[in-house]
Amino acid sequence: MKADIKLVAGNSNRALAEAIGAYLSLPLAKAQVRRFADMEIFVEIQENVRGQDVFIIQSTSFPTNDHLMELLIITDALRRASAKRITAVIPYFGYARQDRKAGPRTPISAKLVANLIAQSGVDRILTVDLHAGQIQGFFDIPTDNLFAAPLMARDIKEHLDTSNTMIVSPDVGGVVRARALAKRIDAPLAIVDKRRERAGESEVMNIIGDVSGRSCILVDDIVDSGGTLCNAAEALLANGAKEVYAYITHGVLSGGAVARIASSKLKELVLTDSIQPTEAVKVAKNIRVISVATLLGEAIGRTATESSVSSLFD
Ligand code: R5P
Repeated sequence: MKADIKLVAGNSNRALAEAIGAYLSLPLAKAQVRRFADMEIFVEIQENVRGQDVFIIQSTSFPTNDHLMELLIITDALRRASAKRITAVIPYFGYARQDRKAGPRTPISAKLVANLIAQSGVDRILTVDLHAGQIQGFFDIPTDNLFAAPLMARDIKEHLDTSNTMIVSPDVGGVVRARALAKRIDAPLAIVDKRRERAGESEVMNIIGDVSGRSCILVDDIVDSGGTLCNAAEALLANGAKEVYAYITHGVLSGGAVARIASSKLKELVLTDSIQPTEAVKVAKNIRVISVATLLGEAIGRTATESSVSSLFD
């Protein structure tokens, strides 16, 4: 069966693609993704894919638009080369935060991007920790949204004393995700409730739950500027938390986020490699990266053999 699978990597996260290939004992298909002088993207698949089950591994991470366009063009090349089925493995689905009209005359870009991907010829999607579960419904093709929670729970049990831990959602929107992890490690849950009572007044962080003396673990899907994370960590310590850790799936880490986190009071931030870690992330003393390669490799194998993917989380 595996002989019929092809793995094709875009340029967004070659290291993860190679790790997935190693898990499946499959080399990456020979393909080139190049740029013309004007930065147009050109793709050449350099081996036969006719009638094959092809998995493109590409996060739509920074530079988001380039990586998205690579994904669309790789898909077009594979479709025209008569691949039997094309699955876009998108460990980090960028644009997911634009999942509703945030104000009048604003776009729902997550839906637009989902449409673009499906229209380019992708048959299935495999992704990890979508910003909101409902985004799955933006794709009018089968979509498996894998969870990093089992990996995180295992890592927490291996590295921390769970007898005194408390899982914390850094905002009200992340409660479902945080509660799922709390359940897996059998820990209580607290919530940071950010409020601006009146326009022009600064935000107040109320903590719902008693965190005093606890080792707190902040859980989120994305860390971008690091503002949400560092502010929540400050608020927890101000409310008597003993120490603060964080487990976050997607390390977007724009601008000075890594420096901000490195100089924060966070004991440790654990990220996954859904987005390729930069050198700054690799050398940061309080950031550690765990891999989703096995999770994705297993899901790819199960998709290829038409076995259950959801049972991965039982
Ligand atoms: C928001 O809903 C997300 O779950 C993250 O909390 C947010 O994207 C983090 O952004 P930043 O690191 O810029 O505060």
